[in-house]
Amino acid sequence: MQRVADSLRSDGRVIGLVPTMGAFHRGHTSLIQMCKKRCDVTVVSIFVNKLQFGADEDFGSYPRQFAKDKRIAMEKGVDYIFAPEHDDLYGGDFSTSVEVAGVTSNLCGASRPDHFKGVATVVAKLLNIVKPHKAFFGEKDYQQLVMIKKMVKELDFDIKIIGGKIVREPSGLALSSRNDYLSDDARKRAAVLYGSLKE
Ligand code: PAF
Repeated sequence: MQRVADSLRSDGRVIGLVPTMGAFHRGHTSLIQMCKKRCDVTVVSIFVNKLQFGADEDFGSYPRQFAKDKRIAMEKGVDYIFAPEHDDLYGGDFSTSVEVAGVTSNLCGASRPDHFKGVATVVAKLLNIVKPHKAFFGEKDYQQLVMIKKMVKELDFDIKIIGGKIVREPSGLALSSRNDYLSDDARKRAAVLYGSLKE
């Protein structure tokens, strides 16, 4: 991937990256569309990053549907899918981590102590491997977006981070790969979150 990126860069092409954990929905495809509009080459990474899951969280059951994601990516005109295995990124006695203090200590970070460290670490690695000029993240994970912008600024990555609007179901529920876990009833009830925010 680094060799491909170097070659694209030396040809003067603008590389865009949409980092994902797969299980694509319209939130992902809207980021892909934004990336295609603003960049010459669109790279999507698909990697379920163990580092950002707590011991009692859903790493094992997180939806994985590579063949379907690949088909969707091709339909949407993605140029490259970067889909490493765990050991490609964290092989050997990997022991480095990136931590963005402050913005990650409250909200989601309060109940998921190492989550944002895992996200910052993998995103830093993906940015160094894919070497994009621009990278696209959903506003659904707003604390994540704020953290990544801060990390990129403070670690001097020469990359523009762009947020994409939340895509919602007609009920107002934000699209998320984890919505697959919800029963029909829970899905209906989850829409109360959006209703309450609007109130
Ligand atoms: O938002 C996600 O899907 C993940 O947190 C990310 C940014 C791809 C890092 O694994």
